[in-house]
Amino acid sequence: MPYVCVDNLVKKYGELTAVDHISFTVERGEIFGLLGPNGAGKSTTLNVITTLTDFNKGEVVIDGMDIRKDKNRIKQLIGMVPQDIAIYNHLNAYENVKFFASLYGLRGSRLKKNVLEALEFVGLSDKMKEKPRKMSGGMRRRLNIACGIAHEPRLIVLDEPTVGVDTQSREHILNSIKLLRDRGATVIYTSHYMQEVEEICDRIAIIDKGKMIACGTEPELVSMVTDVKSIYVETRLPVGFDLEAFCKKIKLMPGVKGVKAEDYVIRVDISIGQNGTERIIQEFINNKLPLDNIKSEVPNLDTLFLTLTGRELR
Ligand SMILES: Nc1ncnc2c1ncn2[C@@H]1O[C@H](COP(=O)(O)OP(=O)(O)OP(=O)(O)O)[C@@H](O)[C@H]1O
Ligand SMILES: [Mg+2]
Repeated sequence: MPYVCVDNLVKKYGELTAVDHISFTVERGEIFGLLGPNGAGKSTTLNVITTLTDFNKGEVVIDGMDIRKDKNRIKQLIGMVPQDIAIYNHLNAYENVKFFASLYGLRGSRLKKNVLEALEFVGLSDKMKEKPRKMSGGMRRRLNIACGIAHEPRLIVLDEPTVGVDTQSREHILNSIKLLRDRGATVIYTSHYMQEVEEICDRIAIIDKGKMIACGTEPELVSMVTDVKSIYVETRLPVGFDLEAFCKKIKLMPGVKGVKAEDYVIRVDISIGQNGTERIIQEFINNKLPLDNIKSEVPNLDTLFLTLTGRELR
C-alpha cells in the first residue's frame, strides 16, 4: 500500500477551487514532486496533507490512517518545511530547532542529539548561536529545514525550500533531501523550478490551476509529448558538395524522423530511444564536413507543460 494516498481531493476558498479533484499516491521511501506555476495549488495540497487545512471533498490516507479520523497520529509522522520561513527571530539557531523538536515531545539527551544532528545536516553547526536576523536568506532557509526534520519525521513535506537561495545553498539543500530519502524518509517536495524537480524527484505530478495535468517519472512524462530530440550541427559545405544526397542518406538512418538544412546548420530529428547521435556525427566526419558547433535539444518538463497548457511553466 502506498505511504500517502490522495484521492479526488477538492479544496475551495469561497468560489475559488484551489485544488480540483487531485489524486496521487506516494510510495514509501520516494521523493515525490509537485511541479506547477504560481497559484497552481501546490501549497494548498501540502497544507491538507500536513493537516493544517481542512478540505471539501476526497480522501487522504497516510500510512494507512485516514486524515479525518487520525489527525493527531498523522501529525506525529510529519515534518513540514513551509514556503514562508517559520522561525523565531528572538531565538538563536539552536533554540529554534530545539523549540520545534520539543513540540513533538522530544526531551533530554535525545532532544539535544537530534537538534545538533539537524543543524549539522543543513550545514549550520557553526552558526548555532546566531539569531536568524543576522543570517543570509539561504541560511534561514536551511534553518527552516532543520526545524522541520529534527524530530525524525517519516514523512517530510517541503514547500519550495530553495526559493531565493544561492546555487551553493541550493545544492546543499537538494543533496540533504536526497540523503533524507536514502535514510528511509518519504518526501513530498514542491517547486516551480523544472530542473530541481527533474534532479531529485523519483516521480512528479504536474499541476496547474488546481488540476493535475500529468503524473509519472520524468522519462514517462516527457515521452507523453514527444520521443524526438533535435540535433543541430553547424558546418561549412565544401564547393560542389551534394547536400541533397547527404540529407537523403541521413534520413534513411535508423530512428531519424527528419532532416533539414538551413544556412550553415543541419538539423536532424531523431527518436530519443534510438541513441543515433554518434552515427549521425560519424556521417558528417566521413563526409569531411567540419563540426563547427553541435547542439541538441531534448524535450523536458517545460516542453510538456507548454504542450499541455499552451503556457510556459514560469
Ligand atoms: N487562505 C487562502 N484564502 C483564499 N485563497 C487562497 C488561500 N490560499 C491560497 N489561495 C488561492 O488558492 C490558489 C492556490 O494557491 P496555492 O498557494 O496553493 O498555490 P501554489 O501552487 O502554492 O502557488 P505558489 O507557487 O505561488 O506558492 C491561488 O489562487 C491562491 O490565491
Ligand atoms: Mg505555494
